[in-house]
Amino acid sequence: MKSSPDAAPVVDVRSMSKHFGELTALDNVDLTVYEREVVAILGRSGSGKSTLVRCVDQLEEIDSGAIYLDGELLGYERTSSGLRTLSDSARRIQRRRMSMVFQQFNLFPHWTVLRNVTEAPMVAHGLSRADAR
Ligand SMILES: Nc1ncnc2c1ncn2[C@@H]1O[C@H](COP(=O)(O)OP(=O)(O)OP(=O)(O)O)[C@@H](O)[C@H]1O
Ligand SMILES: [Mg+2]
Repeated sequence: MKSSPDAAPVVDVRSMSKHFGELTALDNVDLTVYEREVVAILGRSGSGKSTLVRCVDQLEEIDSGAIYLDGELLGYERTSSGLRTLSDSARRIQRRRMSMVFQQFNLFPHWTVLRNVTEAPMVAHGLSRADAR
């Protein structure tokens, strides 16, 4: 992946690990994605690609490390006594700022592609149909 020192990091994953019981799904992962950058993550089945994306979208709890979105720590706030988990509502507000398509899609099959991608900005951000379009 190219590094772009002039652009701002959008997603910044630092030394992030995720375990499922005994299984280490992600081991100290670092990933920085800059504005306007398009990144493809390749790896064999089971190497943790979906888990990485699900962690960034806070659908999985991470075990260590940190994830930043536009410089803001995701899922936690720093206090004088360490990290404190954010409330569900604060997490929901953070999650509104990102979108993902699930591996099993979870799209509406009776809708067009356009309606599938414009519905969330209309519902979550109150955009007009024209603006979402
Ligand atoms: N909820 C879960 N509980 C237990 N193990 C899980 C869970 N989700 C993923 N795993 C395991 O974590 C590892 C990484 O899975 P993940 O789905 O992230 O891989 P992937 O790279 O997306 O694979 P694929 O290319 O098949 O989509 C695998 O060993 C998987 O079995
Ligand atoms: Mg996957």
